[in-house]
Amino acid sequence: MAASLDIRELKALAKRRVPKMFFDYADSGAWTESTYRANEEDFAKIKLRQRVLVDMTNRSLATKMIGQDVAMPVALAPTGLTGMQHADGEMLAAQAAEAFGVPFTLSTMSICSIEDVASVTKKPFWFQLYVMRDRDFVFNLIDRAKAAGCSALVLTLDLQILGQRHKDIRNGLSAPPKFTPKHIWQMATRPAWCLNMLKTKRRTFGNIVGHAKGVTDLSSLSVWTAEQFDPQLSWSDVAWIKERWGGPLILKGILDVEDAKMATATGADAIIVSNHGGRQLDGAHSSIAMLPRIVDAVGDQIEVHLDGGIRSGQDVLKAVALGAKGTYIGRPFLYGLGAGGRAGVTAALSIIAKELDITMALCGKRRLVDVGRDILAAD
Ligand code: FNR
Repeated sequence: MAASLDIRELKALAKRRVPKMFFDYADSGAWTESTYRANEEDFAKIKLRQRVLVDMTNRSLATKMIGQDVAMPVALAPTGLTGMQHADGEMLAAQAAEAFGVPFTLSTMSICSIEDVASVTKKPFWFQLYVMRDRDFVFNLIDRAKAAGCSALVLTLDLQILGQRHKDIRNGLSAPPKFTPKHIWQMATRPAWCLNMLKTKRRTFGNIVGHAKGVTDLSSLSVWTAEQFDPQLSWSDVAWIKERWGGPLILKGILDVEDAKMATATGADAIIVSNHGGRQLDGAHSSIAMLPRIVDAVGDQIEVHLDGGIRSGQDVLKAVALGAKGTYIGRPFLYGLGAGGRAGVTAALSIIAKELDITMALCGKRRLVDVGRDILAAD
């Protein structure tokens, strides 16, 4: 794994180490996956300006996201079921991010709980909130994130109902895994994964079981999650969530200029231009295609971040050039985790940092904070 030179190699390794149903869960988009593909492909269309004979000594990728120091503007995106890519996945990824100096965002739908992650980290991490119909549960989650010292709340707005992902349906995905012959075969052919999974007790949704009313075991949990995403969530909900949380708030899942304006009016600290990694509305624009329009509309009033399709440090640089003050990676860190646990996540971050550093230098910049649209080629 130390030999992996790019994220594609980590992906190939993860595919060999993670049972098919969970690898596919990471590597899938909604319906035809056209938006999932566009997220990656649209980055490749953007060309950089090669500059020469510029002093390239003393380079720095360091910057801030919502006022917090980061070693580079790349956070780990919230991803559900991360503890199924590798046993205790959220705890390992959070430790890797902490050591690297970038934010880790824990999903509501994680396997390891808020308290589990807090117990193995020293610096604050970020927490992602899905607003469930059970508001007492939501209040409680916010309070638990506060008690754990989380330093930002990432409120996801683009999953009022679940997009349809064909691979998950065909694979009969569930957590913990079902024990049909097909699933047993998928796991039996990944012995190292199984061994690690047998050593941990964390195999279901750690933030939910034992916390939500009436959810004590697995069958009650699946009934609960199927009904709980709130299709009536509205902008007025953002106000009470902001108030109850009382700390830095990031709104995730903005892909439209009108929505970006509404999000800015809430007084949130940042928005994430995102289409949920192409997992929700298939046929929507890629995140990077929408970024400049949204930055032009609200970038002087609110910090604009981006996720979706980042597979290299070059992609991070392009997003920064187009006005993103921060970016997030989902699949790249999941592939690292599946390939090699904590060391794999560190490998993913190292690959991206190196690519970012070299590309920035060859574009004639020494500090990421000086990067703007001038590093992009006109056509
Ligand atoms: C996600 N994403 C996501 N977002 C969120 O707010 N809460 C969640 O629980 C999840 N779960 C999830 C699982 C998996 C397997 C993936 C791949 C993604 C979306 C995620 O935060 C982010 O928006 C995308 O992953 C960004 O795209 P890339 O980097 O994966 O291309």
